[in-house]
Amino acid sequence: MIERSPKLEVRNLTKRFRQGKNEIVVIDGLTFAIADLEFLAIIGPSGCGKSTFLRIVDGLIPPDSGEILLDGTPVKGPGKGRGMIFQGFDLFPWRTTLANVEFGLEMLDLPRSERLERSRYYIELVGLRGFEQAYPHQLSGGMQQRVGIARALAIHPEVLLMDEPFGALDVQTRDLLQDELLRILERDRKTSLFVTHSIEEAIYLADRIVVLSARPAKIEMTIDVPFPRPRTDELKTSPDFLEIRQRIWETLKRDARS
Ligand SMILES: Nc1ncnc2c1ncn2[C@@H]1O[C@H](COP(=O)(O)OP(=O)(O)OP(=O)(O)O)[C@@H](O)[C@H]1O
Ligand SMILES: [Mg+2]
Repeated sequence: MIERSPKLEVRNLTKRFRQGKNEIVVIDGLTFAIADLEFLAIIGPSGCGKSTFLRIVDGLIPPDSGEILLDGTPVKGPGKGRGMIFQGFDLFPWRTTLANVEFGLEMLDLPRSERLERSRYYIELVGLRGFEQAYPHQLSGGMQQRVGIARALAIHPEVLLMDEPFGALDVQTRDLLQDELLRILERDRKTSLFVTHSIEEAIYLADRIVVLSARPAKIEMTIDVPFPRPRTDELKTSPDFLEIRQRIWETLKRDARS
């Protein structure tokens, strides 16, 4: 168990959406806490409300009731303390790699020289040196996702919110980027919230996993991931890893049947 004070607290969060004449409950009384520097993965069936939840944490949309506390202070809107890596690639097509990474920094009131220096640093960190002037359509999916990672990291967020950042990638690129993310966070640890469909990805990356039920999203199970860091590929075939994978899989299967 991690004994640090909570960085982020989710208290009794509820969110409904209007769908035609009906109202659907997407999140229903969600409560949990994330410790400072903890890496928490969230798994749940498609449509259960994971992206909605991350958007609320990021302050992009308000909850209907309940609250999110960041260092004990309620989140009221977007803030530079949180960096989001979105589901799919959400780069500006008319901006180069450099200009996309600079985007978040334009709101931070930094001198242009520092903006450039920081952007270049993170572009290098995610392995895209030489592609500063390329436009998104000139990059592969994996490279575009790296731009998204660099853009989120460049603002020096205290909390990193990741919404299936590798979901649209082929398996090899996904494996590669998982390792790169681990390497980057090894150097520069951050409180991380990572949404994924992949049980393996969650176990490989996280300190703890929250499994959500189908809509409305409720906590079905929480698992502490006991593996030390740095983590390497061999972990994925170890008996302990497979045992945790099986437990999560059983829970998701049971949930899908009920
Ligand atoms: N702005 C909106 N207006 C109305 N309904 C919405 C809105 N945003 C999301 N929803 C609904 O809320 C539910 C949860 O959507 P959400 O995108 O949070 O799911 P998700 O868990 O991220 O799914 P996936 O795994 O497929 O990405 C869906 O039924 C969706 O139709
Ligand atoms: Mg989603």
